[in-house]
Amino acid sequence: MSEKKLWGGRFKERTNELVEEFTESVSYDKRLAPFDIAGSVAHVKMLEKQGILKPEEAQKIIEGLNQVLKEIEEGRFQWKRELEDVHMNVEKRLTEIVGPVGGKLHTGRSRNDQVATDVRLYVRKEIEEILDLLKAIRRAFWKQAKENLDVVMPGYTHLQIAQPVLYSHHMLAYYQMFKRDEERFKDTLKRVNVSPLGSAALAGTSYPLDREFTAKLLGFDGVTRNSMDAVSDRDFVAEMIFNCAMVMMHLSRLSEELVLWSTEEFGFVELPDAFCTGSSIMPQKKNPDVSELTRGKTGRVYGDLVAILTVLKGLPLTYNRDLQEDKEPLFDAIDTVKLSLKVNTLIVEGMKPRKERMREQAKKGFSLATDVADYLAKKGVPFREAHRIVGELVAYCLDKGKSLEDLSLNEFRQFSDKFDKDVLDLMSVEGSINSRNIIGGTAREQVEKEIERIREEEGFE
Ligand code: ARG
Repeated sequence: MSEKKLWGGRFKERTNELVEEFTESVSYDKRLAPFDIAGSVAHVKMLEKQGILKPEEAQKIIEGLNQVLKEIEEGRFQWKRELEDVHMNVEKRLTEIVGPVGGKLHTGRSRNDQVATDVRLYVRKEIEEILDLLKAIRRAFWKQAKENLDVVMPGYTHLQIAQPVLYSHHMLAYYQMFKRDEERFKDTLKRVNVSPLGSAALAGTSYPLDREFTAKLLGFDGVTRNSMDAVSDRDFVAEMIFNCAMVMMHLSRLSEELVLWSTEEFGFVELPDAFCTGSSIMPQKKNPDVSELTRGKTGRVYGDLVAILTVLKGLPLTYNRDLQEDKEPLFDAIDTVKLSLKVNTLIVEGMKPRKERMREQAKKGFSLATDVADYLAKKGVPFREAHRIVGELVAYCLDKGKSLEDLSLNEFRQFSDKFDKDVLDLMSVEGSINSRNIIGGTAREQVEKEIERIREEEGFE
């Protein structure tokens, strides 16, 4: 059985050990310690400014808190499960160091507004790191695009060859996904970066705290406007995990393509050896395990999102202990997305498109059929009619084992007298690509412009 709790005044019996094991969070929330201490230091400075603490008391507490931080950073801190969570562990050690004055730290504060503050500070810092990682992966796609402008490939719909595109255009499609992810995190940050301190347990506090002052010290943009909401709001946690889930979904789509592209059947890219693994039985194998695991880990992060939404759905106002279950999904989602972004950035940087193979495939599957239909339509044939004519041409080719490029002008003219000699010039992959010269299209001119636009916007070199 453990020693008396910091909150143990009204209790006659000691806490059951199994209950301690069941209710503790210190095993995982200890990572919040630097934020917890920063929040406490700001709170103490404010208490002093308001005349609630004497300057010498405030100074002693701050020195004590700094020592606790040092012990934690140097790995000397003795975390105790029976002290429940990071907040109690820090406060208990503070009181050991500075004596009874340490007990004044918690004036006008509750663990409810304290933990809400800690989690917000933590999420803010993680958003900053994730923004950097998102920029790094965007740069990797941009570089692939910039350095491989001559690579053509088949574009797909329904995973069936559709129309030829530039490999660079395909790479910049991923750039856009991770650009939107950046916007989402930045938007979330607006709602994260407000200070709940001063909400106390749920109703505010009778001490004359200066909430704006504490908020400013901690770099918050403002203060929360309703104490009851502030101690029980975890919308920002759900949003954060959703943002992570969205990044994972984008990485998972990339992974799926890389798994396909690195097969013998596709043969579109060579993945860097350092990011693949071999088989213990089949000597010839080079498996895209990192991509597969990224796809797999996406499931974990979706699980984190469902977990937080489910924890929150039944909670009456205000704080309920269920809220402690916000942390593990949050930490897991953030850790997973950061590691996944790092390793996938290296893959994108290191992968090599197999130009010849892609070019070969770009023409397959009658990928120029739309161009032929557009040709007829431009000569006045209604597009639906043109579509039918080219469909018949394709059926003819399939019958004769030919492709569209193999057809003579005479053969074309059997299907429509609108075909002239220039239809034969149309039968090139580059011609098809460059004809889609419209903003957002795959023509080389457009893709080059886009690469320039991104260079300027992002400051990439
Ligand atoms: N460990 C708790 C949490 O994460 C801290 C807040 C505890 N508050 C309370 N009233 N028991 O939610």
